[in-house]
Amino acid sequence: MSLLEMVQQKNMNMLPERYKTMTVDEMESRVWEVKNKLGDKLFIPGHHYQKDEVIQFADAVGDSLQLAQVSAKNTAAEYIVFCGVHFMAETADILTSDKQKVILPDMRAGCSLADMANIEQTERGWQELQETFRDTIIPLTYVNSTAAIKAFVGRHGGATVTSSNARPMLEWAFTQKERVLFLPDQHLGRNTAFDMGIPLDKMAVWDPVLEKFEYNGDLDEVKIILWKGHCSVHAMFTVENVKQVRKNHPDAKIIVHPECSREVVALADDAGSTKYIIETIKASAPGTKWAVGTEMNLVNRLTKQFADKEVFSLNPYMCACLTMNRIDLPHLLWALENVERGEVMNQIIVEANIASEAHLALERMLARA
Ligand code: 13P
Ligand code: SF4
Repeated sequence: MSLLEMVQQKNMNMLPERYKTMTVDEMESRVWEVKNKLGDKLFIPGHHYQKDEVIQFADAVGDSLQLAQVSAKNTAAEYIVFCGVHFMAETADILTSDKQKVILPDMRAGCSLADMANIEQTERGWQELQETFRDTIIPLTYVNSTAAIKAFVGRHGGATVTSSNARPMLEWAFTQKERVLFLPDQHLGRNTAFDMGIPLDKMAVWDPVLEKFEYNGDLDEVKIILWKGHCSVHAMFTVENVKQVRKNHPDAKIIVHPECSREVVALADDAGSTKYIIETIKASAPGTKWAVGTEMNLVNRLTKQFADKEVFSLNPYMCACLTMNRIDLPHLLWALENVERGEVMNQIIVEANIASEAHLALERMLARA
């Protein structure tokens, strides 16, 4: 792409001024208008970490697994305006037909975790792992990864996982091969493997930047190789936060997402996927107190939704996932008004050869979900 084309594309992807001057009421009523007009032609999936100003318009709200499932089932909608981040929209594009168009209202809504594994690093790392472990490894990738990584995993017989099915998927992987390469979130991999009874000294970390293992023992003993990636949002919950909550709120239960570090998960009372956290707090008795270690938009929503309980963030200085937050009401309206005019902006298209291999990895997961 030439420099001129790049500048033109950048300008096209920028929110027009008019959306910066509209009132919230004006924008909300226009969104309802376009939604009503387009009916079943339009489908808006929304991840739990999205802002309320956006989530109020979602046709389906869920975690990564639920949104992948509803996208795969939806054959009616011509336009899928995805309120989540880039890898989720890519997954929706892979799982829907060629006639359906997936749109991300703001192309800057990426995921820092997914960006921690690129395909060149992965191919190089795999080469090294093959030399070290021969043909004893199967790759698994968290869905929080690019389509190219999912395709790599599909090509090598592996599957995707989400935080709500990581354990059964890891158990399945061990029926296929002796060892697992787990990309790109070391914490989800470590926490899940630990829960399955794999001791920490049988886990190695692969550093894709330095291209070396972080492991001191005998590599023959290693069962799982964890890619050195992490979610920068969940990394904000620390052992110190846990100690503070234990001191200031001794009657509170601490529940965290498995993207948090092993140390934090070990000290928490409970850990589980976004869906698990929501369901656990929902099912708890009125008057109970919960310190929650996950994204802030969701924690704020739980605080409002379960007013008969006390729900607060494990880290009092926590902020929302910045990239998720790029999808806001103005961008949603902009995307919808483009669709209304028949102009598709910010379409997410995964190349056919990548999509077919990534589909294999997703299907292996969805068949077991
Ligand atoms: P889940 O939706 O699988 O809980 O993942 C959390 C997350 O960080 C999504 O980006
Ligand atoms: Fe990515 Fe973490 Fe944000 Fe989820 S919360 S989109 S994993 S950076």
